[in-house]
Amino acid sequence: MTAEATDARHVPVLVRQVVEALAPIDGAVLVDGTYGGGGYSRAALAVADCKVIAIDRDPDAMQRAWKHAGQDPRLIPAPGVFSEIESIVRAAGHEQVDGAMLDIGVSSYHLDEDQRGFSFQREGPLDMRMSRKGPSAADVVNTMSEQNIANIIFRLGEEQASRRIARAIVERRKSEPFRTTLDLAEVVSGAVGGRKGQRTHPATKTFQALRIYVNDELGELARALHAIERILKPDGRLVVVTFHSLEDRIVKDFLRERSGQAPGVSRHVPGLPKGPAPTFDVFEKRAIEPSGAEVISNPRARSAKLRWAMRTMAPARDTPIEGLPRLPEVSKLEGVTS
Ligand SMILES: C[S@@+](CC[C@H](N)C(=O)[O-])C[C@H]1O[C@@H](n2cnc3c(N)ncnc32)[C@H](O)[C@@H]1O
Repeated sequence: MTAEATDARHVPVLVRQVVEALAPIDGAVLVDGTYGGGGYSRAALAVADCKVIAIDRDPDAMQRAWKHAGQDPRLIPAPGVFSEIESIVRAAGHEQVDGAMLDIGVSSYHLDEDQRGFSFQREGPLDMRMSRKGPSAADVVNTMSEQNIANIIFRLGEEQASRRIARAIVERRKSEPFRTTLDLAEVVSGAVGGRKGQRTHPATKTFQALRIYVNDELGELARALHAIERILKPDGRLVVVTFHSLEDRIVKDFLRERSGQAPGVSRHVPGLPKGPAPTFDVFEKRAIEPSGAEVISNPRARSAKLRWAMRTMAPARDTPIEGLPRLPEVSKLEGVTS
């Protein structure tokens, strides 16, 4: 792909491997659940005369998608969250699709723009909402109980010092509510203290936890996988790129279970009742990772993992979503009206 083919501000990760896994053909209908800068959509449209329904929850990303659609009418912008992919695809006039791709997390646009409040290195409002709707990161740290803040930081940031950080947050907000990113970064750094030889910023994990919580990223991903199972045609492809072990675990566990590889669900042990027919075939058990060269040219790629699978003819399952961290629903945050 040429440099002009993609948006210069966000360099898409593992794009060649995504398109190979998706294997678009002429006439296919695909969904890009995370349009962002449009790198994956453009790459798919470049190799086949297909159609791409482009979803993003971020209004700025949708503006880019509308611009792109003006140049290529095969792109169909569809604002919304990808957990609602089923109704979005229906509204676009399709019952089923040939492929779905997800590139989880934030884009460089989010991290580079001070006013979006995602970065602990840039002064900006403590926001972190991809959709610009609902409770912000400031609402979380200014209103939730110390216990809940500690749980969020521990479960979604895997931060060992979560209790100390939560205590420092609650202590500080007694005198003044948090307003900015650097405000929070400073309090977290003070609570954690610099560890000798530490290469990452002390607020990295706390910021990650708040971002995942504010955007309900794990819930969104789990619901999207279930919905994609319902809308993919037989032989349709699911391709997911993740950047964090919590996200990758959700994808890995879902595909292991749906392809009949999860421990204890063998369909072939004599005498045991057969489990349900696999809804996905998984051909590569190990996740696909970027080459060293890609990581050098695009450091954001370093923790990326790609998993893909092909839908079988078996009916979609109606199983509840399990295994997500138990935390209060962000949309029901008390005392928050935004
Ligand atoms: C890593 S970027 C995608 C980059 C894109 N693949 C490209 O090549 O430019 C992730 C995008 O997904 C969007 N996003 C994240 N979670 C979402 C969700 N639950 N529903 C819809 N869009 C989401 C973000 O707003 C962001 O624009």
